[in-house]
Parts: sequence; C-alpha cells; structure tokens
Amino acid sequence: MNRFHNPLDRFITGADKALRVLAGVHSASRPNPAAHAADAEMTEQEYRHSAGLMRVNHVGEVMAQALYNSQARFAKSDQARAAFDKASREEEDHLAWCAQRLSELGSQPSFLNPLFYAGAYALGTAAALAGDKQSLGFVVETERQVEAHLASHLDRLPPQDAKSRAIVEQMRVDEIAHGKAAEDMGAEKTPLPIQLAMKAMSKVMTSSTYYI
Ligand SMILES: [Fe+2]
Ligand SMILES: [Fe+2]
Repeated sequence: MNRFHNPLDRFITGADKALRVLAGVHSASRPNPAAHAADAEMTEQEYRHSAGLMRVNHVGEVMAQALYNSQARFAKSDQARAAFDKASREEEDHLAWCAQRLSELGSQPSFLNPLFYAGAYALGTAAALAGDKQSLGFVVETERQVEAHLASHLDRLPPQDAKSRAIVEQMRVDEIAHGKAAEDMGAEKTPLPIQLAMKAMSKVMTSSTYYI
C-alpha cells in the first residue's frame, strides 16, 4: 500500500516535516553555491542589510516547504505528488543555504516562521483541493512572483556580498525551473484576484521579516 494513502501516516509525515523545518533541521543535497565565493569586507550596516534580505529569503523557503508539503499531501494524482516532492527537495537545499548564510552574517531566522508556515500550508491545501491543474497553476504563479522578488534582491544586496548573491542566483535558476516544470504538466492560470492576494501576502511577509 502506498504510504501516502494512509491518512494517519500522511498526518504524521506532515507534522514531522513541519517540526523539522521550524526547528531548522534540514540538509542540502547539493553543494552550497556560496562555498567558493569570496567573503568580502562589509560595513556593519551592509551586514545588517544582507541579513535582513537573507532572512526574508529564508522565510520564503520555509513557506515553500509548507506549500509543496501540503500540495503533495493533498494532490489528486501520483504524478503531481511526485512533482511536488521533487521540487520540495530542491527547496530544502535553498532553506539550508539561506540558514547557513544567515548564521554567517551573525543573524538568525525570523521569529514569525511558524506563522508563515501555517499560512502557506493552508494556502497550499486550498490550492491542492481545487484540483491538480489549479494546484500546478498556483506553483507557476508562486514561482513567478518569487523569481521576480529574487531578481530585486540581486539589485539590493551589497555588490561585494558574493556569498549571498551566489545563493540567490542559484535559487532564482531553480525557481524558474520549478515554474516551467509545473507549466509543462498542464497548469491552469491562477485567477487574477488570487494573484493579487498572493502579492499582498508576500508584501506583508517581506516587510515584516526583514526586521524580525
Ligand atoms: Fe526556493
Ligand atoms: Fe521553487
């Protein structure tokens, strides 16, 4: 029997994943793209700015875990579930890289992580329950917004912070690929009101977690 067909197993797996994400227990399956980037001199203010931006990115990756976990859990087909699981493993690399960079910058993840995990989990569940094509469409729209947001961080990060930039650049490449993969699987376009609601939620997230 497929382990995902047993509701209790699915619940335990989901709760276990959430606890690991929120406790910072995760590991990257690929080398950190920042490993060979030079550690540049930065002012105190630049350190704080880089840490603020990387904290926002870290929360984004916490939310990505919640979205992909809920979308995989409530997917209608095994094919969609497999696609969400695959993307989720790559997102875990992003989470680990952002966490490592945050600690190198002498900072810590956002206190608001549990709140945003819960919110994203609810959104992902709603998208999944609407159907696989809608759920894939939600991925396309999410990844499109995340990609634009990462591009804006490449403009805002201190130019000499090669380590943070290397991580953000690789994440951007991966997010584009996740969106493309979901599109190729027959994603349906997300309705405009939902797109706007997603933008509003991301605005709340980015403006709060830069600081806390
Ligand atoms: Fe990501
Ligand atoms: Fe992604």
